[in-house]
Amino acid sequence: MNKKNKYITVTKPFLPELKEFIPYLESIWDKKWVTNNGQLHQRLEYELEDFLGVKYVSLCTNGTLALMLALKALDITGEVITTPFSFIATSHAIVWNNATPVFCDIDEKTFNIDPDKIEKLITDKTTTIMPVHVYGNPCDNEKIQAIARRYDLALIYDAAHAFQVKKDKQSILTWGDISVLSFHATKVFNTFEGGAVICHTQEMKQKVDDLKNFGIHGETEVVTTGINAKMNEVQAAMGLLQLKYIDSNIIKRKIIADLYIENLKSVPGLSLFSYLPGVDANYSYFPVLIDENVYGKSRDFLYEVFKEQNIFTRRYFYPLISQFPMYSHLASARPDNLPIAERIASQILCLPIYPELLPDDTSRICSIIKDGFRK
Ligand SMILES: Cc1ncc(COP(=O)(O)O)c(C=O)c1O
Repeated sequence: MNKKNKYITVTKPFLPELKEFIPYLESIWDKKWVTNNGQLHQRLEYELEDFLGVKYVSLCTNGTLALMLALKALDITGEVITTPFSFIATSHAIVWNNATPVFCDIDEKTFNIDPDKIEKLITDKTTTIMPVHVYGNPCDNEKIQAIARRYDLALIYDAAHAFQVKKDKQSILTWGDISVLSFHATKVFNTFEGGAVICHTQEMKQKVDDLKNFGIHGETEVVTTGINAKMNEVQAAMGLLQLKYIDSNIIKRKIIADLYIENLKSVPGLSLFSYLPGVDANYSYFPVLIDENVYGKSRDFLYEVFKEQNIFTRRYFYPLISQFPMYSHLASARPDNLPIAERIASQILCLPIYPELLPDDTSRICSIIKDGFRK
């Protein structure tokens, strides 16, 4: 195939061979138990608790509902300090709980919420801090947790990108009051669609379990105004199968990331993202920043050059959440409040990375970057 005709997308869901999935489907068909805390769902919760090194996992239909349940379980109201540099679901989940996002600027190295800018956003309506471990790079939990304690705020981590990320050998999912994962097809670990709420106590897990099942608790009791956010057995089966491959997939991602780093580390005007010391990363994304003044061409120029070559990079996260019409009217969304986030959003480009990406394709992507400005 002509290389230019080969489509390369920013990510590709990892799917094990179909023949490996069939026995799981057969077991579902045999039992005719397809949802409502089925056996595979129960097994996946235990296996994830063990694998991730966390106390309690409550599986959900997707990460967005998991975020909504986390906010609901903690009775969050008022103002929630969060990052504009994330996927739109982070703020939408806050609004679906009738709370208001307050955007805090980000750190220029980690792209995570800047803990030094949180305190000045706290008002008498603030109830919660909801940071995101962007690209799986851990937030500065020590500082953020200290602020949460000082002002008696809840701390919810959107850990959608942070499956199996560790800091100093400990899962970062144990941080805060609750963490939320996404198992969307584009993520390092996927159940087609899916997500989970990570809880630290049995009581919190029970609360989330009730909330995701209409508030039903036992046969005749409804204890809360819950919703339907249950994971079904086919999703859970995919999760169990994915777990067998997760370690090798993360290694494959690291090999691609290392290839990119080797090839791109000295391109003028290109900055590579680096993980903090002590982090076991999952290599879920490979973001680069393009400084037009030094590189000679803009991020959008390079994005278009790739597109012409059938290579589909993504400008995650551009536009910022704060730039979308349902948020841009908020005082905290003003560009002069978010100078770093505004700059990073205009320079960011996520390059393709997934376990099956070939070294040849990675090299081709690097050559385009090196030659891109000659177009
Ligand atoms: C940071 C972040 N939060 C939340 C979500 C929502 O997860 P889901 O797509 O599983 O609903 C995503 C991505 O999909 C995300 O990237």
